[in-house]
Amino acid sequence: MNEVLQVIKTRRSVRSYQERQITNEELKAVLEAGVYAPSSMNTQPWFFSVVQNRELLARVTDWIIEEAAFIKDNPKAREIASTKNAALFRRAPTVIVVSGDRSNPLAVENCSCAAQNMMLAAASLGLGSCWITYVGYLARREATVAKCRAALRIPEGYAPILGLTLGYPAAPPEPAQPRRKGVFAVLV
Ligand SMILES: Cc1cc2nc3c(=O)[nH]c(=O)nc-3n(C[C@H](O)[C@H](O)[C@H](O)COP(=O)(O)O)c2cc1C
Repeated sequence: MNEVLQVIKTRRSVRSYQERQITNEELKAVLEAGVYAPSSMNTQPWFFSVVQNRELLARVTDWIIEEAAFIKDNPKAREIASTKNAALFRRAPTVIVVSGDRSNPLAVENCSCAAQNMMLAAASLGLGSCWITYVGYLARREATVAKCRAALRIPEGYAPILGLTLGYPAAPPEPAQPRRKGVFAVLV
């Protein structure tokens, strides 16, 4: 099997990391993979805030927990809201907050392509990664978006969409979970 297909099939979501930081070369390769993602009309409507500062990450975690309290109809949000110091970022040494241009109607799709590119690039380098949905809570209220913009250097007009944890896996990843069958049709 070629190397790209091998990486696609062996990438796993990693939720436990070693403390040691990834190298700048690895980080640069992951970010570069992100910016080479396809985007609607080549708009490239993303911004990546790389957070390696524990204190800043703790502040972002607190903001997510605060926002979760406003989301009434979601059991996961309720759980987060009631867990003080929840390890939402799994103690990963690096977190990438992916923000999208709010004026782009396909910002979520475009940023998701960038995220997948970064997760595959990470896996190809022996790094673990995991998508963190709760980062999207930060886009609910303007006051929180403004706090994030200032703290994470997010450009005006952009807001957080998702997070990615990154680091060396604490243990070798298990083989991929079985995939659902019957999810494609070939029509000739
Ligand atoms: C849109 C999306 C949101 C996700 N959100 C989270 C999340 O918030 N926390 C988490 O631990 N994993 C999250 N994941 C990872 C999935 O749980 C994981 O991809 C799935 O269980 C399959 O496992 P694998 O990635 O190891 O193949 C998310 C994945 C996607 C694509």
